Amino acid sequence: MSHKIAPSLLSADFLNLQKDVEMVNNSEADWFHCDVMDGSFVPNISFGFPIIKQISRIATKPLDVHLMIVNPDQYISQVKDAGAYLMNVHYEACTHLHRTIGAIHDAGMKAGVTLNPHTPVCLLEDILQEVDMVLLMSVNPGFGGQKFIEHTLEKVSRLKEMILRKNLQTLIEVDGGVNLDTGKQLIDAGADVLVAGNAVFADANPTEMIHKLKSIAKS
Ligand code: DX5
Ligand code: ZN
Repeated sequence: MSHKIAPSLLSADFLNLQKDVEMVNNSEADWFHCDVMDGSFVPNISFGFPIIKQISRIATKPLDVHLMIVNPDQYISQVKDAGAYLMNVHYEACTHLHRTIGAIHDAGMKAGVTLNPHTPVCLLEDILQEVDMVLLMSVNPGFGGQKFIEHTLEKVSRLKEMILRKNLQTLIEVDGGVNLDTGKQLIDAGADVLVAGNAVFADANPTEMIHKLKSIAKS
């Protein structure tokens, strides 16, 4: 299976959001990555459910929703109603993660667990069997356009080993500072889904950049 590309709309043109959503619709991208920030879990505020709902009306690809918020459990039904295919919650924001994952599945969504750069993948040992995807942050969350943290490559390899050892199908997604260079290293390390914000939307030809990211070949 070839890897997936999920452009992050955080770097889209909010005055022309429809245009950017249609660009992604007509590109080789697989998913839309939607970043929700609350100004509490992360030091920034982005957009919320009304915007995601509008995106979902015209998006022809699944919405991968990344919640950088405290108490994400409180918003499961709103995330579903907004049109999410996959709901990512942060490990660091969930006291009862097993219950949260169950509630996301009960609501009819795929469940993802996100780890901040400092959170070790070994903490997933007893929850991995429940989740559809692990989202590894390769920057400290809150802003687009940051520098990729190299240590993420080692985390991807270790997580991949854990997934194979347990004979699971869990996807590995990586978010933050992904470009053609870091993307290639991530694919070689075992990543399945690349999120890219700045690399896509700051490029002179976003559709072509998505094509290049999608065309990365595993060594
Ligand atoms: C950062 C967000 C990312 C962000 C990535 O906290 O979770 O999804 O949009 O942006 P780039 O690809 O520019 O690092
Ligand atoms: Zn994100």
